[in-house]
Amino acid sequence: MSEVKCNDQIKNEYRIINGDCRIILPTLESNSVDCVVTSPPYWGLRDYNVDGQIGLEDTMETYIKTLTAVSSEIYRVLKPEGTYWLNLGDKYATSCLSGQGDPTSGKKPKGAFVPFPRKTDLPNKCLMMLPERVAISLISSGWILRNKIIWAKTNPMPSSAIDRFTSSHEMIYFFTKKAKGYYFNQEAVKEPAVTTKKRSPAGAKGKIKLTRNRWDVWNLATAGSERVDVVDAIHYAKFPQSLVRLCLLAGCPENGIVLDPFSGSGTTGKVAIELGCKYVGIELNPVYAVLSETKIESNEEGVSMRYQSFDPTCMSVSHKVEDV
Ligand SMILES: C[S@@+](CC[C@H](N)C(=O)[O-])C[C@H]1O[C@@H](n2cnc3c(N)ncnc32)[C@H](O)[C@@H]1O
Repeated sequence: MSEVKCNDQIKNEYRIINGDCRIILPTLESNSVDCVVTSPPYWGLRDYNVDGQIGLEDTMETYIKTLTAVSSEIYRVLKPEGTYWLNLGDKYATSCLSGQGDPTSGKKPKGAFVPFPRKTDLPNKCLMMLPERVAISLISSGWILRNKIIWAKTNPMPSSAIDRFTSSHEMIYFFTKKAKGYYFNQEAVKEPAVTTKKRSPAGAKGKIKLTRNRWDVWNLATAGSERVDVVDAIHYAKFPQSLVRLCLLAGCPENGIVLDPFSGSGTTGKVAIELGCKYVGIELNPVYAVLSETKIESNEEGVSMRYQSFDPTCMSVSHKVEDV
């Protein structure tokens, strides 16, 4: 497919493209997107009920290569001053093809977990450090890692493990294409300054400061605590709107174009539109792709605000479901 030229007449605000991001991304125009906020499928964790999904690769090496290739396409479509926010979670190695679910029953376990977790050469029960492995691969492919942000969940999933601590965080990697001159609005995401006896929140001239530059540990509740829309009820792996909001406020200029190549329930799109940005989402599962529009269209009370079919800013109008 030839590269798509930017449409100067930007009228509409979003578009969800139903298809494989490995096929759609190469058709988008280079240097056209301001900010990417995304959470790809984690390796061997969930089944999104669609052929060709990423996350079910036989080996973690193939998974890492796949995400690196997708990220290289993101690099191409991102403007030089653009920012890339990548949310990934870790998992533990299993020594055999069992675990969540019963492989003999053929039944899918609750929460759409992959019934047969993937095998690795790592020792059984070893934390895989998958987010780190992906991040290092991206750095090797040319990305500049500006922050490793810990999303500390204020309401993590309880764990029954008796020989380790409960997993309560995920990673958000903040990447840029260049070392200086990328978009970053520190002011928009400042946090309250906390006074301690040893260190008061005073500036260099002794002035009391009520806010401080945001730290790289973000304490946020999971999406489960947010209002449930129709697509939320069927999508098990959403990230919270509060997380996307911080990434976009810090990393996307006013009226910018936001992309999520793993759009899922449309969380990134919902927040992008609320902040006055434009949104392009790519999602492989047609059910999520269609239903996420209702999420993007709804306001705080769940009432539909508007319905626009998107003639995307820099994206081809020819991407329809049947194209891919
Ligand atoms: C972790 S979920 C993203 C959830 C999203 N952040 C949200 O809040 O709703 C990953 C999504 O990637 C989709 N996906 C898997 N493989 C894909 C591919 N090759 N191209 C596009 N989307 C894909 C899955 O269907 C799933 O909805």
